[in-house]
Amino acid sequence: MAVGRREKNNQSRIAVAIGIGVLAGCIFAFAFPHGFFSANPPAQNRLRSKSNFEVGSSSCESTEKIDLLKSDIMRLSDKNVELKKQVRELKENIRLVEQGKDRARDQLTVSSKPTKAGPFGTVKGSRTNPPVIPDETVNPRLAKILSKVAVGKELIVCLANSNVRAMLEIWFTSIKKVDIPNYLVVALDDPILDFCESNDVPVYKRDPDEAIDTVGKTGGNHAVSALKFRILREFLQLGYSVLLSDVDIVYLQNPFHHLYRDSDVESMSDGHNNMTAYGFIDVFDEPAMGWSRYVHTTRIWVYNSGFFYIRPTVPSIELLDRIADRLAKEDAWDQAVFNEELFFPSHPGYDGLYAAKRTMDIYMFMNSKVLFKTVRKDARLRQLKPVIVHVNYHPDKYPRMKAVFDYYVLGMKDALDPFPDGSE
Ligand SMILES: *[C@@H]1O[C@H](CO)[C@@H](O)[C@H](O)[C@H]1NC(C)=O
Repeated sequence: MAVGRREKNNQSRIAVAIGIGVLAGCIFAFAFPHGFFSANPPAQNRLRSKSNFEVGSSSCESTEKIDLLKSDIMRLSDKNVELKKQVRELKENIRLVEQGKDRARDQLTVSSKPTKAGPFGTVKGSRTNPPVIPDETVNPRLAKILSKVAVGKELIVCLANSNVRAMLEIWFTSIKKVDIPNYLVVALDDPILDFCESNDVPVYKRDPDEAIDTVGKTGGNHAVSALKFRILREFLQLGYSVLLSDVDIVYLQNPFHHLYRDSDVESMSDGHNNMTAYGFIDVFDEPAMGWSRYVHTTRIWVYNSGFFYIRPTVPSIELLDRIADRLAKEDAWDQAVFNEELFFPSHPGYDGLYAAKRTMDIYMFMNSKVLFKTVRKDARLRQLKPVIVHVNYHPDKYPRMKAVFDYYVLGMKDALDPFPDGSE
């Protein structure tokens, strides 16, 4: 939304600047046919008229001429003032355009037709950016795999290595159980590649000599965690929407039947109720300030970077690049960086991202805190069938994933009972 508005602003600034330039040019051409800098038009006129006056014989005629000339001079000096004003405005517009010229240039290339605002209550900013043009040259082998695996140009993608083999098995078993055809494991080592192949799980192993891997290998731990975002970028460049999935997730319904697809990023939340997941005002209190002791703050619990749907748009790819770049350079947690890049606004020295974002329904895309702290104790909420459960809040992932599977898929009513709310 913000991007759209700024675009229009810049566009109209540029249009105004160009318009004024053209107008000023016409006026110059009309008022100063002999050039702007070389002549002093009123003086020149006067001289020419004076010689006419000397030649002319009638004094009556000459008074008339003097009056005409006076009004000419008045008109021209008015015009001069008006021109000076327009030149000032033109200069100001050029300055404004110069100030944001890179951005203006970028935005001109993606700008849409200007529209009039509709009546009160009917206007709606766009949050759905257009997809990029698919570029198969980025990775022809992956393009071929995706053309087979994806449904409607979208798929679930999960990165896995041998450390998470047991969880991966529950992951794909639950996916198969609910008949989701469009999913792909990105195998980070050969045993996982074999494991997937022997279980008929769509798998893709990246070529070890690809440039991204060497970045990952030579760059230490944080550069390796940047790998996920570098890999994802290729999927988006190939024109696919990706539902990125950690491996500690149990699928209970087909998530593609429960997406809005209106935003660049649609993510599950680490929030545990409506307020914390969807946003609220938190009041900060500083009694020493007296009258102004209360300050309102906007709050939201972070998005979970282990389960989000990302559309192949320019802001989405920029997001992935920003995260990968920061993870390669800083000692940072990818989820914190993901949220900072998504939510922090532009401020001095920093340009915010302005990707459109949507928080997923916390009871449909459920984290394990919501399940173990709230849902399993609430008779009504127990009846709900989530789309997925992400065991993100608990370190004993495998037994809890199994319990979720047993409870929701196999109908074992007491499967969740042995576990405490948190970890012990
Ligand atoms: C939470 O939000 C959902 C959807 O907006 C709504 O249906 C539900 O009643 C809310 N729950 C509470 C406890 O406010």
